[in-house]
Amino acid sequence: KFERTVIGVALLVSALFIFCLFYAMGAKKGNVTECLPYDKSYEDARVSQLDKNTYQVFYVARMWNFEPSVVYIPVGSEVDFFVTSKDVVHGFEISEKNVNLMGVQGAVAKTTVKFDKPGVYKVTCHEFCGTGHQNMQAEVIVN
Ligand code: CUA
Repeated sequence: KFERTVIGVALLVSALFIFCLFYAMGAKKGNVTECLPYDKSYEDARVSQLDKNTYQVFYVARMWNFEPSVVYIPVGSEVDFFVTSKDVVHGFEISEKNVNLMGVQGAVAKTTVKFDKPGVYKVTCHEFCGTGHQNMQAEVIVN
C-alpha cells in the first residue's frame, strides 16, 4: 500500500513538471531558443544591419572572450543574437534581458531581443570554461 502512495506521488510530481514545462513554453512563445542548422559562416564574428532598427550579431565564444567584444546598437532596435564556440562549451547570458544561451562548437544558438532603453548590457559567460572564465565578458552598448 505504501508503495502505491510513493508511485502515486512520483507520478503526480512528474506530471507537474511536464505541465510547468509546457506552460513555460507557452508563456514565452517565440522566446524559446531556436536550434538552427549549423554552417561555417557562424564562425565569422560580426554585426550586420538588416534595416534601420534590425540587427544581427554573430558571436564567437572561445577561451576566454567573446568576439565581437563591444557592440553598439541604437535604442529601439531589435537584435538577433547568434552564438557559437570555437572550443569548449561557453555560456552566454544577458541577465537584464533574460537571455541565457549556450555556445557550443559546431552548433549555433539564437535568440531575439528588443532594446528599448539605453544602457550598457553586460554579456557574461555563465558556464565554467577554465581559468579565464570569470573574466569572460562582452558588452552591448545601446544608445
Ligand atoms: Cu566561457 Cu566561462
